[in-house]
Amino acid sequence: MPHIVAIFPGSFDPLTNGHLDLIARGSRLVDRLVVAILKNTQKQPLFTVEERAEMVREATGEFSNIEIGSFDGLLVDYAAERGANAILRGIRAISDYESELQMALINRRLRPESETLFLMAREEYSFISSRMIKEIVTLGGDVSSFVPEHVADRLRAKFSAKKVN
Ligand code: PNS
Repeated sequence: MPHIVAIFPGSFDPLTNGHLDLIARGSRLVDRLVVAILKNTQKQPLFTVEERAEMVREATGEFSNIEIGSFDGLLVDYAAERGANAILRGIRAISDYESELQMALINRRLRPESETLFLMAREEYSFISSRMIKEIVTLGGDVSSFVPEHVADRLRAKFSAKKVN
């Protein structure tokens, strides 16, 4: 069997149960899985890279083959740096397909050695997005069924601190 080292890239702002499900399922299929947090120089993230990495670390302690890193610049350059021969992405709905196809084709042109692998999101997570979760919390809604408990705590803390300021 070939040795598979996969990168699972994303903003993870914040980590959701959907991300966590992909990490769990992906980790069973590959030898090593590197969760790669985008430093988002253009988008203004809610959580710092360190906070996002901590949330991933807290949620993935039980998996022995998971590493956590962060990157800016091209994903394929980071994949090369980490010795990865695969990129893992999830697809929730048909609306994800177009942008994921475009990214996969661009990444393949830039670095054919890293093959993009897709997993379909589980039905119960197929409508979850980090953006929606932030919106719900801002509007005072309950996100405890969409994210791990410690992430929900951090979201509440972040937004109550924002209200005070
Ligand atoms: O969680 P997201 O926002 O869907 O993740 C998007 C991500 C990080 C996978 C994508 O923006 C990315 O790979 N950015 C790095 C820049 C890059 O390599 N661009 C060229 C390929 S599209």
